[in-house]
Amino acid sequence: MHTETHTGLESPRGNWWKPAHKAEKVWVGIAFAWCMVLFAMMPLWHWKGGQNPSGIRRRVEPTAFYARTEEFIKQYKVGDDRGMPIVQPPPGADVYLTAMAFQWRPILKLQKGAQYTLHLSSLDVNHGFSLFPINVNFQVVPGYDYGLRVRPNAAGDFRIMCNEFCGIGHHTMVGRVIVDDAPAVANTATSAATVATTTGGAR
Ligand code: CUA
Repeated sequence: MHTETHTGLESPRGNWWKPAHKAEKVWVGIAFAWCMVLFAMMPLWHWKGGQNPSGIRRRVEPTAFYARTEEFIKQYKVGDDRGMPIVQPPPGADVYLTAMAFQWRPILKLQKGAQYTLHLSSLDVNHGFSLFPINVNFQVVPGYDYGLRVRPNAAGDFRIMCNEFCGIGHHTMVGRVIVDDAPAVANTATSAATVATTTGGAR
């Protein structure tokens, strides 16, 4: 019968421990070096990766931001798509986009090559701004106004996907950004016609 008791404070008997093999030491060395590379990449991406918010960030009351968005809509509205206003601000303008469960308000109509300050915020919970199919991702947090300097570099009819789970309708939270090639035309009738033809295959 085995009556011997062991505690974790005593070493097991016998030759259970051998110095690490050279190959193991080499691997530990490689892994450590790689850890250091990844560690260095964090600040490197911050400064060199172009992944930082390009503009301002300030605190804002969600309802105040929403009111500002509504004002923006009233000012530059050129049409609507099934009740969602389509807004075409002039180049250089401050653009307001409110995320809320479960929509992106309003639809933006921008001009390729023009610069805008895109203000993003949420009325309720955390949402994720993801421009599809372009690789842009941004957290939209209630209480913060993120003013991103953007310059659309491709024309097209893009979708904004919500990439942060925000509730039961999360998967339906799809917005639109239309980027026009041509210089902005003041003729709203033309814009509305263009929009009508592009909504055909949407969603
Ligand atoms: Cu908004 Cu998910």
